[in-house]
Amino acid sequence: MRHFYISFILIWTLSCSGNNQQREFSEFETEHGIGPITNEIDLGSFDPALANRGRQIYTSLCVMCHGQNDTDIAPSLEDVLNRRSPEYVMNMILNPTGMIRWHPTRSHENKYLTSMPYQSLTTEEARALVEYLRSESPDTSF
Ligand code: HEC
Repeated sequence: MRHFYISFILIWTLSCSGNNQQREFSEFETEHGIGPITNEIDLGSFDPALANRGRQIYTSLCVMCHGQNDTDIAPSLEDVLNRRSPEYVMNMILNPTGMIRWHPTRSHENKYLTSMPYQSLTTEEARALVEYLRSESPDTSF
């Protein structure tokens, strides 16, 4: 019975999200992605303690795909903040399924050997990951 309810909810969710296919993206969403981050974030000065927290999360939840120096597995994140805004990176972490499925900057077809999973991280954890990625970037002009 439980499986029946889960399947029902899944089909219902998928059929509702199908309506979004026609949706237009605002200027903010086009640049910064879709998900819980809907306002610009002021990064402020670099926070080593926050970056260290981000490094711990990265080591346990991200490095297995993103740290392989193999862009067939997943894109490299070392210079991601030179390509994407911090808000975009956080929306990708917090809403990977929606981003991959709907966002105009994603290819919508799986060209990687893995798929970016939803890992139920909090906004604070996503922010810590941005601080870590900030420390990894070769260009720190942001
Ligand atoms: C199972 C493998 C896997 C894991 C684990 C994973 N990712 Fe990903 N990630 C991917 C793949 C594959 C993509 C490319 C998605 C696409 O466009 O289809 C991606 C894309 C991204 C992007 C967008 C990069 C760009 O160039 O636009 C960011 C940011 C990102 N991941 C961050 C993370 C973070 C942070 C973690 C850990 C919390 C993480 N990912 C965990 C596989 C993974």
